[in-house]
Amino acid sequence: MTPSLVDSRQSIATKPRLGFVGVGWIGRNRLEAIQKSGLAEVTAVADESREACAAVEQIAPGCHYVGSLDEMLFADLDGVVIATPSALHADQAITALEHGLAVFCQKPLARTAAETTRVIDAARAADRLLGVDLSYRNTLGMRRVRDLIQAGALGHVYAADLVFHNAYGPDKPWFFDPRLSGGGCVIDLGVHLVDLALWALGFPRVIGTTSRLYSKGAPLRDRTSQVEDFAEARLDLDGGAVIRLACSWNLPAGRDAVIEVAFYGTGGGAAMRNVNGSFLDFRTERFRGTSREVLSDGHEDWGGRAAVEWSRQLAAGGRFDPAVEHVAEVASALDGIYAGDA
Ligand SMILES: NC(=O)c1ccc[n+]([C@@H]2O[C@H](COP(=O)([O-])OP(=O)(O)OC[C@H]3O[C@@H](n4cnc5c(N)ncnc54)[C@H](O)[C@@H]3O)[C@@H](O)[C@H]2O)c1
Repeated sequence: MTPSLVDSRQSIATKPRLGFVGVGWIGRNRLEAIQKSGLAEVTAVADESREACAAVEQIAPGCHYVGSLDEMLFADLDGVVIATPSALHADQAITALEHGLAVFCQKPLARTAAETTRVIDAARAADRLLGVDLSYRNTLGMRRVRDLIQAGALGHVYAADLVFHNAYGPDKPWFFDPRLSGGGCVIDLGVHLVDLALWALGFPRVIGTTSRLYSKGAPLRDRTSQVEDFAEARLDLDGGAVIRLACSWNLPAGRDAVIEVAFYGTGGGAAMRNVNGSFLDFRTERFRGTSREVLSDGHEDWGGRAAVEWSRQLAAGGRFDPAVEHVAEVASALDGIYAGDA
């Protein structure tokens, strides 16, 4: 489909027509969220797995199953949602954008900052909406924490501690194959931590990085054959703040997950922490000295919010949104973590 055909059809159709590439666990989840929102029409699905396709049949009856993204390019769509193994994202996103399609991609958008920049450049050149599922930004807790920081309520924020231990561990083999994953817990979980820290602080420049990466308890030696399953890193920011990060897979943490995002400033602190090892439920508190106040608590359905918001923007005729350029800064910080393992 040429960009001009997309343009003319979008002006008369209200609901964008979407294709989904990769409908495993998260693709199916985001498909359901978009379908439920009623903001877009799911018309095509591509997945290498028949079982994965069969599992979406009930959620999106009547949608068309195609063998690959390449076939999808000729299916008269406005946008594609990509949820394939991480190392495939960049090429698939660029292919779709160059065919005039908007893209909503799972994190990580790409494996490196250079690759991330290529995807963003393709979106800018095509003037197409590009969204990335940095989903934890959409928790009520993180929105409250960021609002406090941005309003100056915590004073000068000089320290942040962020932790994401997925003790349950990835349950699909591709996560452990660098050719498909692009890396281990840093690219999988560290991407959320770096994004949350920089996003909440207004994307200050990272001026220094140190890190340690491990695989099965020993220093990570070869990224082409191994992926890290534990990492800790320190990012020094322009303005003097320090961010400390730790993330892992299969750490013996005594619960499914430990997720914590805490900021400390001259005027107080605030933190979002998961409850009872949950990946989904958080309690968020504001700190004043030794006392604390709950900002949000309990279960909320936040996972599909970024996908729904992207659909809303697309339905409103949204084109390239420069806000996505910050994703390259996150990718650059991840490059630093991989390089900073001295
Ligand atoms: N935003 C978030 O918070 C979040 C959460 C979980 C996963 N993710 C990301 O989502 C992506 C998918 O993770 P998952 O857990 O759903 O994995 P998954 O293995 O359950 O799903 C991936 C699907 O892609 C399909 N696939 C593989 N190669 C393909 C190709 N070339 N074309 C079409 N389909 C293909 C597989 O058959 C599978 O069904 C990963 O990049 C992961 O990092 C993001």
